[in-house]
Order: sequence, then C-alpha cells, then structure tokens
Amino acid sequence: MTDLTFIDSLRAIVGDRGVVTEATDLEIYNTDWRHIFHGKARCAVLPRNTQEVSAVVRLCASAGVPMVPHGGNTGLSGGATPDDSGAQVVISLARMSAIRNIDPVGETMEVEAGCILQTAQEAAAEAGLLLPISLAAEGSARIGGILGTNAGGTNVLRYGMARTRVLGLEVVTANGEIVSGLRRLRKDNAGYDWKQWFIGTEGTLGIITAAVLQLAPMSRNTVTVLLAVPSPEAALKVMRAARQGIGETLNAFELMSGTALELVERHQGLKVPLAPSEWYVLLEASSSLPSLREAVENLLGEVLEREDATDGVIAESERQESELWALRESITEAESREGRSVKHDVSVPIPAIPAFLREAGAAVAGAFPQARINAFGHAGDGNIHYNLVVSSSTDGSALNALVHDIVVAHGGSISAEHGIGQYRVKELERCRSLPELELARCVKHALDPSGLMNPGKILASLHAEK
Ligand code: FAD
Ligand code: MLT
Ligand code: ZN
Repeated sequence: MTDLTFIDSLRAIVGDRGVVTEATDLEIYNTDWRHIFHGKARCAVLPRNTQEVSAVVRLCASAGVPMVPHGGNTGLSGGATPDDSGAQVVISLARMSAIRNIDPVGETMEVEAGCILQTAQEAAAEAGLLLPISLAAEGSARIGGILGTNAGGTNVLRYGMARTRVLGLEVVTANGEIVSGLRRLRKDNAGYDWKQWFIGTEGTLGIITAAVLQLAPMSRNTVTVLLAVPSPEAALKVMRAARQGIGETLNAFELMSGTALELVERHQGLKVPLAPSEWYVLLEASSSLPSLREAVENLLGEVLEREDATDGVIAESERQESELWALRESITEAESREGRSVKHDVSVPIPAIPAFLREAGAAVAGAFPQARINAFGHAGDGNIHYNLVVSSSTDGSALNALVHDIVVAHGGSISAEHGIGQYRVKELERCRSLPELELARCVKHALDPSGLMNPGKILASLHAEK
C-alpha cells in the first residue's frame, strides 16, 4: 500500500481531523515528557470510538505497520514515543474521553481510555466517591496510560496499584479484535483473568479502550503531616508507629531527602515550613471517624518524644494540605529544571530501604563523585525514586547498572511503577531471570505474533528471535 493510500484509508476511518501528518503537529507525539526520547512517527491517528480503534488496528495489521498507543504522554520510560524509523503509527486515545457511567451503589465507574485521570477523579468526587489513583501527573495522564503502565503513585499503601482498581476492561487486540469484558463484578474467577495481560504491559499486547474501575468511599476527614526525620531508619520507625497507631487510615507515607526539597524551593518557589533536615516524611491519613485528628496528634507526640522525628507540622486547612502536598508533587518538575537526571524507579523490601540508600550512596559517591543524589519516593511501598542529577558526559548506563545491581542484591525491582518502556529494556534483560523473560516472550508471541504492538518496548527484538 502506498503511503497516500494508507493515510487516506486512515482518514476514511477516523475522519480528516483524526489523522495528523504535519511534522510540527507530530512533535508532541515524537518526544516524551522528559525530552530524552525522540522518534519520528509516520502519522498520529485519533479514533473516536472503540470500533474506530479496531478498524485502525486492522488496517495497520494488514499493512504490517507497527503501532504505538499514546495517552497523556507523561510516562517516564519512553513507552509512548515511536522509534525514529518513520514507520510507526501513533494511536492516541485522546478523543475517547467519556465517563460512560458511575454506579453509586456498586461504587464503580466505566470510563474510556482517553479520559484524563483528574477528570475521572472529579466525576467520582461529584458522586461522593473516591477514585483512589493519585499521582503528580494526574492533570495530564489518561486512564489508558495509567492502566497501560499499571501506575502507582501516592495512594498505593492503602488502595494498591492501578491494576487493583480494575474490575472490567475493553481492549482491541493486535489483530483488531474488540474484546469486551466491561463487567463490574468484585468477584469473577471464570477462567483466565485476561485483563491483567493488558494492564502494565505498556501497549505491547493490545490497546485498552475502556475500563470499569472500582471506586472507594470518600472519607470525611483527612489529616496531612510533614515531619523532619534524622535518617531513613528513623523514617521507618515513624512508619511502624503510624501503622500501629493509625494503620488502616494511612493513605500515603512518602520519604523525601533534604536535597529533593532544596530543589523544590529553588525551582518551584515553594517554602518548606520546617527547619532544614536531611530527610522528611509526608504522611496522609483519612477516615470518616471524627477521632482521626486526635490519633494523629498522639502519633506526632510519640515520634517527637522518641526523637524519631525532630520537628513536624499538621496541616490546619485544606489549603495547608495542598501546600504540603505541593512540596512532594513538585519534585519531578524541579528536578527536570535542575538539569540532566538519570532516574531509577526502584523498589526493595521496606526494611531494606536504609541499607539500599546507604550502599547506593557510597557506590555512587565512589564511581560518580559529581552526581547529586535526589532520593525520594513512596517509602510506604518500598519504592524509592533514586534519581541522580548529572552532567551531560556522565555514562547513564554505567550508573544504571551500578544502582540496579544493589537493588537486585536486596531482592528489589528495577521498575517499581514507571515501567520499562524503551528506557530500561537492556536493564530488564540483565536483571530478570531467563525463565521469567522467556515467559514474557511466550505471552508476547501469543498475543502479538507479528510484533506490531509497540515494538521495542519492554522486550527488545523479540520478533527477530522468534
Ligand atoms: P503515556 O505516557 O501516553 O503512555 C505510557 C505507556 O502506556 C506507553 O507505553 C503507552 O504506549 C501505553 N499506553 C498509553 N495508552 C494506552 C492504551 N490506551 N492502551 C494500552 N497502552 C497504552 N507514575 C507512577 O506510577 N507514579 C507516580 O507517582 C508518577 N508520578 C509522575 C509524576 C510526573 C510529574 C510525571 C510526568 C509522571 C509520573 N508518573 C508516575 C509516570 C506515569 O507512568 C504516568 O504519569 C502515567 O501512568 C502515564 O499515563 P499517560 O496517559 O501519560 O501515558
Ligand atoms: C513521583 O513519584 O513523583 C514520580 O513517580 C517520580 C519521578 O519523577 O521519578
Ligand atoms: Zn512515584
């Protein structure tokens, strides 16, 4: 098929406005959020409904054209960025953004893949419910991307990763088949739970077009606390005390280094309301029971008395809550303004966090003395963003290997929540066992035998090997 015929056929499916071919208009699809990956899409296609997604995929499959699903483009592993061959078609779900229904009794929401997370959160809140997936990119990230990456964020401690919210899914498979499992059942053990094959697989097995999400009751009271803590060990003691004192109400337990908040103060114009400290903890709890505030105050008194925390502040208003959260949620933006960074989105067993930080710190200082460590993250989930601000000449791959070897030695993961995309393909191959990789290749081959769904992401050159 000539390029003109192919583009015309796409237009016949999605309408003229649904196909983007101009180089300047394609820029937003060709570069990732961090501007570290640059590709060259053949075009971008924006279907309006699931049938159009199916028709586009069928056309691409029959023409042997590789496809790259695209959500809000906030992914941090380059999963939504095409390669530079000029052959790949970006399929953006942005025009499929409807919230199809909210069930206030069953506490579910059926939503299309292109809906922005924050829009879905707001719709749930209007119905008096909580969509408990929360991350700093929620104003741009879309449900398809959130599920495609199995995003984590700041509420995982209480509500789990994105996949745990998914009751039902509708997907378009690599050959264009629509598979609809938009059931809103809390219990469904009828055969394979196939929806899991499409969640967290970064568009390499098919395209998510809609989902049924499990919502949660909205708590009436929220308490947010910022603590200065002397060390990661002390932070874990605070976490233990919090789990014991207010455990079931704890939404978030975030650890931030002094360096992280220095960056935020420097670049975001925000002010940390506590004296400078090596480490900080941001903790949020919520409950509908009125005694929550008192329980948190007791907790704060206890950890200050034991000197596990050296200072602390409890937000007195919603505004103060937002101000404390802004410190945490601005770290990524501030880091990107500071200069080049090499990111590590790692997890280790929670008790191993202090040892990991100590060992990685010593290794980095020895091998890359110029690198500045910006460590922060979802400590309550064992997830540390071990990011390093470096110069342009730093060998990022060597730095990755150094940090990831320490992670693996602690039984950790080299991608806690951001996925593999194209950023960590080699490191996945290095750090996962052969049988695990072979299982993944079997699944890829079974669901995408032609290797056209987001090729080169998660698994390299799979097709060539088969
Ligand atoms: P995109 O970036 O567009 O795509 C991401 C991946 O999903 C790609 O591989 C793409 O091909 C695939 N994909 C997109 N749509 C579909 C679909 N419909 N079907 C199948 N596959 C699809 N992540 C966390 O987990 N926790 C955090 O706390 C967090 N904080 C962040 C903070 C900032 C400031 C930023 C910029 C990012 C953060 N992220 C975080 C990264 C996170 O992965 C993304 O924000 C989000 O999950 C991606 O959604 P998106 O719609 O932007 O997807
Ligand atoms: C966050 O939690 O803010 C992001 O996932 C972290 C990052 O930028 O590495
Ligand atoms: Zn994160």
